[in-house]
Amino acid sequence: MKQDMTEQESIYEKRLARHHDELRWLYMELYDNSSMFAELCDNLHGFYDERNGELKKRDLEREKHTDWYQQNDMLGMMFYIDNFAGNMAGVAKKLDYLEKSNVNYIHLMPFLDTPEGRSDGGYAVSDFRKVQERLGTMEELENLTAACRKKNINVCMDFVMNHTSEEHEWARKARQGNGEYMSRYFFFDNDSIPQMYEKTVPQVFPTTAPGNFTWLPDIGHYVMTSFYPYQWDLNYKNPRVFNEMMYNFLYLANRGIDVIRIDAVPYIWKELNTNCRNLKQVHTIVRMMRIISEIVCPGVLLLGEVVMEPEKVVPYFGTVDKPECHMLYNVTTMATTWHTVATRDVRLLKKQLDIVNGLPKEYVFLNYLRCHDDIGWGLDYTTLQSEVIDERSHKRYLNNYFQGYEGESNSRGELYNADPVTGDARFCGTTASMCGIEKAGFEQDDEAMERAIRLDVMLHAYMFMQSGIPVLYSGDEIGQVNDYTYKEVQNKMADSRYIHRGAMNWKLAENINDKTSVEGRIFHRLSELEKIRKTEKAFVCQADTWTIDTYDDSVLCIGRYYEGEKIIGIFNFSEYDKTAWINEVDGMYTDMVSGETMKASGVNIPAYSFMYLKKNAAIRSA
Ligand code: GLC
Repeated sequence: MKQDMTEQESIYEKRLARHHDELRWLYMELYDNSSMFAELCDNLHGFYDERNGELKKRDLEREKHTDWYQQNDMLGMMFYIDNFAGNMAGVAKKLDYLEKSNVNYIHLMPFLDTPEGRSDGGYAVSDFRKVQERLGTMEELENLTAACRKKNINVCMDFVMNHTSEEHEWARKARQGNGEYMSRYFFFDNDSIPQMYEKTVPQVFPTTAPGNFTWLPDIGHYVMTSFYPYQWDLNYKNPRVFNEMMYNFLYLANRGIDVIRIDAVPYIWKELNTNCRNLKQVHTIVRMMRIISEIVCPGVLLLGEVVMEPEKVVPYFGTVDKPECHMLYNVTTMATTWHTVATRDVRLLKKQLDIVNGLPKEYVFLNYLRCHDDIGWGLDYTTLQSEVIDERSHKRYLNNYFQGYEGESNSRGELYNADPVTGDARFCGTTASMCGIEKAGFEQDDEAMERAIRLDVMLHAYMFMQSGIPVLYSGDEIGQVNDYTYKEVQNKMADSRYIHRGAMNWKLAENINDKTSVEGRIFHRLSELEKIRKTEKAFVCQADTWTIDTYDDSVLCIGRYYEGEKIIGIFNFSEYDKTAWINEVDGMYTDMVSGETMKASGVNIPAYSFMYLKKNAAIRSA
């Protein structure tokens, strides 16, 4: 026992020694406060001591294989606990279904305490150490993560560090006029500074929550609220805020969480006369978080939520020597994918994939077709401009297209935060509805349904081929369509993101084994691809990934190569049968779904279909 203690201690000391100087340097640069730094260090030690033996063991294994999460078996699924299984204990009962869906990474959407009706889908946290009562308890969370660990399922949770709910203890005390707590937020007794901020800071929710400040008449102050008025921005210039939030982060990590999603990270540092996004201090903080996790819980990954243009996203990986996040969302690729669906023109997507494929392989992206948030049309408009496509009218086209109003569209969905001033709007809908499954179902049109399913499956096949880790939104594996019931709920009706956050339909999920049903067809075809992905090493994150010319603007081709194995994927984004004029003359290939052997040149691809071709192993002559 004693020996174990000293061994544990020496592991900690080694990690600390490796990182202490840099951490201290960064901390002092930001806060110049050595007593607060000493307090931070004491607490890191405390959280390490508290971390349970099983987690410490896993940390050591993961430290030895730092690429553990970059393998081809990784497949994520995200869901709201209540929508998926009622509560935490319910999720534990659904682990078999997740395994059956080939999922080994689950993102539990926000589940910490949040005021009913003023929660922004849980992103307004009132207690970082308490689970919402209706979902369970911290103990149940630990039971769930332990059960997942047994099945090798990784668990991700949100760490909403930019703001707290107005009901958080700090906010309540601040509201009572307690200066110590007011200094943890941004308070102003008149509007002169808020007005100055408003000149340079864009709006996150221009329609549902305009402005970046909220007037609190009871205390005669403005408070900064970049998101909803009940989400109060934390002031990270105050070292107390940083320290306490790090303790919350480690407390949560110690509950057995594998991936911490740092919510809205670009926003966490504010400076007058700037846009308050991606400031350099944000990177100092994320780097410190990375170091802190390397010291206390190196098995835990940081996933940054950076919904920005590519040149703003990539810096959140840090450098190879001084990494920040382990993983980031591939947001521009996601938006460009839907642009491609609407235009049947893969050129912009190809360009975007080339940019991502050119990045160091240590930079791991989470790929997705959609998440719980809206799709913002953050495309490369400079390139589109050279095709005489103007940003404003193109966004209008995309929004009209996906509402089903324009073009040959079968999509269904709704606008999000349509800004009457800028004319800008984002879009909401499930993958299935955007692919035409909702419309075909409603019209009972079998032919249209088959086409819609083909598009849906092709998009997943293409996503699995991208460099990084694919993540599904729960329900997409069975083609779940939009849920319009949010319109009847008082505190949801103004937020159209709820259209694609519907409850998992377990009745429909019963059809997964019936290959004639919509659910069965999608589930079965995706499952086939997921199994291919899991068995073929060319799908690891370290593989070379590149695009191949097809000489047809609606056909995309992606190649992957790893340790002698090569796979190419061909994807037809149009409703017409096409020929991909690729000419890979390095041998024969096998269609990985049908098993047919063929040449990889002049390949016929039916409308909205795809092909995974694997290069046959060379036959060695004796
Ligand atoms: C993130 C979340 C989003 C939320 C916002 C504010 O962007 O994904 O759902 O509204 O942060 O916390």
